[in-house]
Amino acid sequence: MKAVVWTKYGPPDGLEFKEVAKPVPGDKEVLIRVYASTVTAGDVEARSLKFPLWLALPMRLYMGPIRPRNIILGQELAGVIEAVGKNVSRFTPGDQIFAAAGIQFGGYAEYVCLPEDGVLAIKPDNMSYEEAAAVPTAGLEALHFLRKAAIKPGETVLIVGAGGSIGTFGIQLARYYQADVTGVDSTDKLDMMRSIGADHVIDFTQEDFTENGKTYDVIFDVIGKSSYSRSLASLKPHGRYLLANPVLSQIIRKRLTTRGEGKQVILGPASQTTENLTFIRGLIEAGKIRTIIDRCYPLKNTDEAHRYVETGQKKGNVVITVFENEGK
Ligand SMILES: NC(=O)c1ccc[n+]([C@@H]2O[C@H](COP(=O)([O-])OP(=O)(O)OC[C@H]3O[C@@H](n4cnc5c(N)ncnc54)[C@H](OP(=O)(O)O)[C@@H]3O)[C@@H](O)[C@H]2O)c1
Repeated sequence: MKAVVWTKYGPPDGLEFKEVAKPVPGDKEVLIRVYASTVTAGDVEARSLKFPLWLALPMRLYMGPIRPRNIILGQELAGVIEAVGKNVSRFTPGDQIFAAAGIQFGGYAEYVCLPEDGVLAIKPDNMSYEEAAAVPTAGLEALHFLRKAAIKPGETVLIVGAGGSIGTFGIQLARYYQADVTGVDSTDKLDMMRSIGADHVIDFTQEDFTENGKTYDVIFDVIGKSSYSRSLASLKPHGRYLLANPVLSQIIRKRLTTRGEGKQVILGPASQTTENLTFIRGLIEAGKIRTIIDRCYPLKNTDEAHRYVETGQKKGNVVITVFENEGK
């Protein structure tokens, strides 16, 4: 089969399009013919080993101290079950699925094997494979944190990094919870954020939300770029500060800082479950959530897709089309 092989840590040149052996499913695994995968910030960070300080060493030890152990990147995917192991009961060949492979990766290939009890669910029937592939990791991350916030209708939610993968699902989920949503991101992403339901937008290159005198019930920072103390000051009493990807100083300050007025600080890791993915499928089929796709690249140009994501211009998601002009 064709795959993009991750040969070394560092720049995208280390991603090589080549022929590798087609995997064979174990007894409790499914073999998936992959139609689409994505390039997330997480794939780029893994490829280049650029993680927050507290995560860098454990990730390097896990992924391979010298070179990557799992040679195919791609954290999420959509495709069709081609074959199942002899002890698989949840899926049958022909099922159209979407899945989070997590840090096992494997999406940048024509086929991948995943455990049947992994984070796999039947694909939403109103989405293409490209649209569905971009849902699992960012959608689950956004759902996890916004559920922790227990949003009540009419509450105000501000999302930092709202124009990226997690943020675009975050805006739509917060609207589903009937919040008044403010999205914070760079200039080129503001119209797109409005188009998926942001009631207000803030261009972080022009304005610091912590200095505009407004307060919020929930501040959801998906990238760890908000000021810890000023964000807490921008919360209403009983407000919740959600840090999906905290930097070390934010983790330390959560432990050391005394918070008044019932304010809470909530940080990761997010749980990824099939139950939650199935819940998101329901929202997609009910028309509450859609995927924002900025660009699609063919599998052989995955290195170019990584270069584009590194520019920071990505609006929503960048998708890798594995089998072109096939499927729904
Ligand atoms: N996507 C996933 O499924 C997933 C899952 C788990 C963890 N993560 C981690 O979560 C983090 C965010 O992931 P993501 O996929 O959502 O990233 P993303 O798609 O790159 O989105 C991040 C967004 O934040 C914006 N931004 C940068 N600086 C900002 C600032 N100071 N204020 C407001 N917005 C700012 C970026 O805009 P500009 O580029 O224009 O600056 C970009 O639009 C990454 O570290 C990733 O590894 C992601």
